[in-house]
Amino acid sequence: MNNLENKVAIVTGASRGIGKVIAEQIAKVGAKTVCVSRSLSDVEKVAKGINEQGFTAIAMACDISNGEIFQELAQSVIEKFGSVDILVNNAGVTKDNLIMRMSDDDWNIVINTNLTGAFNGTKAVTRHMMKQRSGRIINISSVVGLIGNAGQANYAASKAGLIGLTKATAKELASRGITANCIAPGYIETDMTNRLPEKMKNALIEQIPLGRIGQAIDVAATVCFLASDEAGYITGQTFTVDGGMVMS
Ligand SMILES: NC(=O)c1ccc[n+]([C@@H]2O[C@H](COP(=O)([O-])OP(=O)(O)OC[C@H]3O[C@@H](n4cnc5c(N)ncnc54)[C@H](OP(=O)(O)O)[C@@H]3O)[C@@H](O)[C@H]2O)c1
Repeated sequence: MNNLENKVAIVTGASRGIGKVIAEQIAKVGAKTVCVSRSLSDVEKVAKGINEQGFTAIAMACDISNGEIFQELAQSVIEKFGSVDILVNNAGVTKDNLIMRMSDDDWNIVINTNLTGAFNGTKAVTRHMMKQRSGRIINISSVVGLIGNAGQANYAASKAGLIGLTKATAKELASRGITANCIAPGYIETDMTNRLPEKMKNALIEQIPLGRIGQAIDVAATVCFLASDEAGYITGQTFTVDGGMVMS
């Protein structure tokens, strides 16, 4: 189950938080894993940790909002490993504010990173995946993309956009054996959620039927499944990993 031996995976936003755990888990089940973020030294630490455990990872720096640089990254991964089989578009940022106070810059940074970044990645690997007639594209959205959130118009729009991008990708590439799916995490314990005051955390937990904040491993396990051969008949879907917070 979830054996990714002989697969090559690119994971964006792998320097910390959810992306780091996704990279570690995907490498653990056999994929040669390319850990990507803007900070080379941070992803080098993650790749080193993976290699020390006997699995295979390399680190590459890339600002995913730049399509040309993402294209070059994909090309050098193909030259180094011979293929790209899995792309996890995980990198994301928040720049929260009320709409009337949100600057154009904060709108653009979030859309350009979270949504355009995933488009850039998808575009960079598509030609290769089409030629090899297989591939897995997994986009990390958010429950906020499904239900919205006051103060996060830019983030909610980017994450809802990712769901549309996933469906279009799935329809466009299905005939070439490529699947595209989305994961919408709820509240996951990371540096971001650790900073929340205890009172707010407790109020959040009350909205979660399973009664706890999620762990990065909960998201990573879903990624490993969607990347596996066993998930070959699933495409265009959005999976909430949120302890039951949002049920449709
Ligand atoms: N934590 C949650 O509760 C939660 C809930 C729902 C969805 N999510 C989503 O899950 C994903 C990961 O969240 P997280 O909490 O783990 O975030 P995080 O800890 O803030 O990590 C974000 C990652 O993205 C990278 N990144 C940011 N901008 C980038 C860019 N332009 N190019 C390349 N890499 C970039 C960062 O590295 P550098 O700064 O070095 O570039 C870092 O590795 C995000 O898409 C987030 O929206 C999180």
